[in-house]
Amino acid sequence: MSSIIANPILLTIPESFESKRLVIRAPLWEDGAMVNEAIKESIDELRPWMPWAGQIPTIEESEIISRQGRVHYLERSDLRLYLIDKTTGQFIGSSGLHRIDWQVRKFEIGYWVSTPFSGQGYITEAVERITYFAINELQANRIEIRCDSRNTRSARVAERLKFTMEGILRNDKCDVDGLLRETVVYSKVRGAEF
Ligand SMILES: CC(C)(COP(=O)(O)OP(=O)(O)OC[C@H]1O[C@@H](n2cnc3c(N)ncnc32)[C@H](O)[C@@H]1OP(=O)(O)O)[C@@H](O)C(=O)NCCC(=O)NCCS
Repeated sequence: MSSIIANPILLTIPESFESKRLVIRAPLWEDGAMVNEAIKESIDELRPWMPWAGQIPTIEESEIISRQGRVHYLERSDLRLYLIDKTTGQFIGSSGLHRIDWQVRKFEIGYWVSTPFSGQGYITEAVERITYFAINELQANRIEIRCDSRNTRSARVAERLKFTMEGILRNDKCDVDGLLRETVVYSKVRGAEF
C-alpha cells in the first residue's frame, strides 16, 4: 500500500490515544517541568545511550524541547509522544515516531523510561500501542527500532514485541564517548509482520 501525500500537514492524526495503563499523547505547552524532573531522576540510565543526556537540561530547555515537539507533531515532521499514567497522571517516559518518510510511510520508534518506572513493562506496552497506531492511523509500511548493539534493555523491547532483527550496521555511528559503535536494526513491515 502506498499513497502520495501532497503535504503531510494535511493528514488528520489523533493527538492522544490510550493503552491499558497509559495515555500516549503529543507534547503540550508547559510539559517541560514534568519532563525535566524525569530526566533528572533518570540521567544515569540515559547518559550512556542518549546523545542529548550529557548533562541535565534546565527546565527552560526542557520546555523548549517539548514545545518544539508539539510544533513538529502539528507539522507531522516528527511525532513525539509522551507516556502518562492513566490513573495518577505521572510522566512515565517518552517515545514517538521519528525519521519519518511519508512517501514510503516509514517510521522509527524511539523511547526512554523514567527510572522509577523501569522494569514494569510500560515501554513494551507503549511501543506495542504506537506500532498499532502507526499501522492503523498512519498506514505504515515499515516500522523500525534501532539501537546500539550493547543496549540490551532496548533490544529486549524490540525482541519482546517480535520485531525482526534485520542486521547489524558496523561503524554506523559514534557513541556518547565519540567511539565507533554498531547499530542493530529491527523492523516490522507490511505483508510480513502485519
Ligand atoms: C530501553 C529502556 C526504555 C527499557 O526499559 P525497560 O523498563 O526495560 O522496558 P519496559 O518498560 O518494557 O519493561 C520491561 C521489563 O519489565 C518487566 N516487566 C514487568 N511487567 C511487565 C509487563 N507487564 N509487560 C512487559 N514487561 C514487564 C520485563 O520482564 C522487563 O524486564 P527484563 O528486561 O529484566 O526482563 C530503558 O532501559 C531506558 O530508558 N534506557 C535508556 C534510554 C535508551 O537506551 N533508550 C533506547 C535507545 S535505542
